[in-house]
Amino acid sequence: MRTESTPNQIQKWLSELSLEQKVNLVVGMGQNVPGIADVEQEEKVPGAAGSTYPIPELGIPSLTLADGPAGLRIEPERDGTDKTFYCTAFPIATLLASSWDTELVERVGEAFGKEVKEYGVDILLSPAMNIHRNPLAGRNFEYYAEDPYLSGYMGAAMVKGVESQGVGTSIKHFVANNSETNRMHLDTHVSERALREIYLRGFEIVVKEAQPWTIMSAYNKINGTYASESEELLETILRDEWGYEGLVMTDWFAGEDPAGQMMAGNDLLMPGVPPQRQALLAAVKSGELDEAVLDRNVARILELILRSPVYQKYAYSDQPDLEGHAKLARAVAAEGIVLLKNETQTLPLASSNLKVATFGVGSYDFIAGGAGSGDVNNAYTVSLVEGLENAGITLNEDLKAKYLTFVGAEKAKLPEKRYFFDLLPPIPEMLINRAEIATQAQLNDLALITIGRNSGEFQDRQTEGDFYLTKTEQELITNVSDTFHKAGKKVVVLLNIGNVIETASWRDQADAIVLAWQGGQEAGNALTDVLTGKITPSGKLPTTFVRSYDDVPSAKTFPGEENPGGAIKQVGEMVMAREAEITFHDDIMVGYRHYNTKGIETAYPFGFGLSYTTFEYESLELSSNQIEQTLSVRVTIKNTGELSGKEVVQLYLSAPGLTIEKPAMELKGFAKTRLLQPGEKQTLTMDLNPKDLASFDTAQSAWVVEAGTYTIKIGASSTNIRLEKNFIAANMIVEKVNKVLVPKK
Ligand code: BGC
Repeated sequence: MRTESTPNQIQKWLSELSLEQKVNLVVGMGQNVPGIADVEQEEKVPGAAGSTYPIPELGIPSLTLADGPAGLRIEPERDGTDKTFYCTAFPIATLLASSWDTELVERVGEAFGKEVKEYGVDILLSPAMNIHRNPLAGRNFEYYAEDPYLSGYMGAAMVKGVESQGVGTSIKHFVANNSETNRMHLDTHVSERALREIYLRGFEIVVKEAQPWTIMSAYNKINGTYASESEELLETILRDEWGYEGLVMTDWFAGEDPAGQMMAGNDLLMPGVPPQRQALLAAVKSGELDEAVLDRNVARILELILRSPVYQKYAYSDQPDLEGHAKLARAVAAEGIVLLKNETQTLPLASSNLKVATFGVGSYDFIAGGAGSGDVNNAYTVSLVEGLENAGITLNEDLKAKYLTFVGAEKAKLPEKRYFFDLLPPIPEMLINRAEIATQAQLNDLALITIGRNSGEFQDRQTEGDFYLTKTEQELITNVSDTFHKAGKKVVVLLNIGNVIETASWRDQADAIVLAWQGGQEAGNALTDVLTGKITPSGKLPTTFVRSYDDVPSAKTFPGEENPGGAIKQVGEMVMAREAEITFHDDIMVGYRHYNTKGIETAYPFGFGLSYTTFEYESLELSSNQIEQTLSVRVTIKNTGELSGKEVVQLYLSAPGLTIEKPAMELKGFAKTRLLQPGEKQTLTMDLNPKDLASFDTAQSAWVVEAGTYTIKIGASSTNIRLEKNFIAANMIVEKVNKVLVPKK
């Protein structure tokens, strides 16, 4: 908390700190990476990602920083104690965004913040805000959406929730970090307009709505300059234009020039290595780095320290309410499950007395969340079969035993993880012959098949056997569907995945498809709640499911190209990246902006999701037929079905697009009803302001509104528009900004 004495205390410290101490403060305490271990220290919170340098003689404590987006990542066990330190694995960010429910995400943030605080951590390295530009990006699961508006409001809700507990967040990775391959040495060429409208916009929303305590700059370069060395990004845009008041830290081992990072406004270098200290001392001594710049950055660190639990001597318990948070994780996971297909009311399951055959290794080995720094050390993960059994559903025991034996044997073959961030190879799908499937079809009422996918840091996904199903998976779906259908029985496919896979080629074979995402430690229970109808699904897609990878506008150039003979980036002994480049040719046409504008058919469009009930979009009213400041949009929704349920309502805007090229439509508002009983109605209000209409005009470096007729499209998805109304806008310059981050080619 900033108090009146904050500036005085900071000034006092600044006057007392030696140059060496200032340098120590801006360079983190290091990490135990082979070849670069820093200061020997006892870790306060084992497994935390990093800490800042303490100066005990001045009463300046060390801050503890820990990942990540789906739950706090710390070591669950410690030497010398039987006590455990597990954290709750909440659903992945993409699932949270599928709930389209900012209040719910804020509640998750509160629970998250409590774990951060009770385990003695000061800053949570989350939420992660990068845009789903391409379905193969390895960390999409950590990110919310392909749309900056949705991503921005989800991130803001998360920051508000976490920080309400008196701990900090770090929104990351700022900015244009949309792939993993060569991420530490990748030069991203991107237009000013795409940066402003797509890649920066979500961060801008979070900064303006929630003022996060910290921001993590990205690994990559943007138009030739490392994010962490870009004054245009970190001072001009972030601080001068957006009014950001907090601290910026690097991503771990990012960038090359410590003095440049300081001058750019990147206040803290994480995790910190001794050569960075030497370089900074030398730079101040030679005059290359003005000590006043260092003081500015140190002051930001000191301000952060003053608001931290460690400075306030918070007596953490190491005992957060894991039981309560598990309940919340289950409820939240169910809210973000998306029902993709449901023919002839296959779901909800008619009765809990059904006999069910569960196919697919994934049914038995459910994935709670992705790998790498976005992973969580949770005490358990409820699989699909455990969830079903917990609900009293009878599973075929022979089939279960066969799968469990297979999964056990395959797991035993997996290599040991060398580092926490290693992504182990997936367990292959088990071959199961038709005769066996036929027996199962006789013995059971229904087949469930789980398809699972995992991904993580350092690598992007592949098309073959990842985006597309493996041959064995295809055969499994075909054989189970043929055989069960011949016996008059239904087949439901469950997707336990972190991001988009191909569905168009096989979806006709399933009677129902449920996108469970990676739902955290209670995933199997949450999915069962939806399958049985205890909870009516209300999730909608925050990212498009394309028919084919080739339909993705960035498919041809993702994830960039290595420069022949280019430099290698090494951290200690590890080769991290080769010099590479990527050009965002898709510009502002990312995701549905591209598909809707070009009329490209998708498997499941952005915003899509079915329910067990039906909704009528009854009326749409605008507060005016022209916009000056705010335009209020009121939509009345009625549950016209037979079950209670919630509806996510999306507001898209189509612009005249006469002088400025515009996507066919863009998301500019959303709202979710409460649980509506059959026949019940609710009126939702969404507000538009001139910036929602504006495009970034590169020639003027300004957000401008083009005069003309705009159409508000209220949709149940981006392709299912239920109500429309026009309004008029005059020419407006909403905001003039600086000409920065200009592409070099
Ligand atoms: C990741 C960050 C993470 C950091 C600390 C980096 O490799 O990119 O997202 O917060 O490590 O674990």
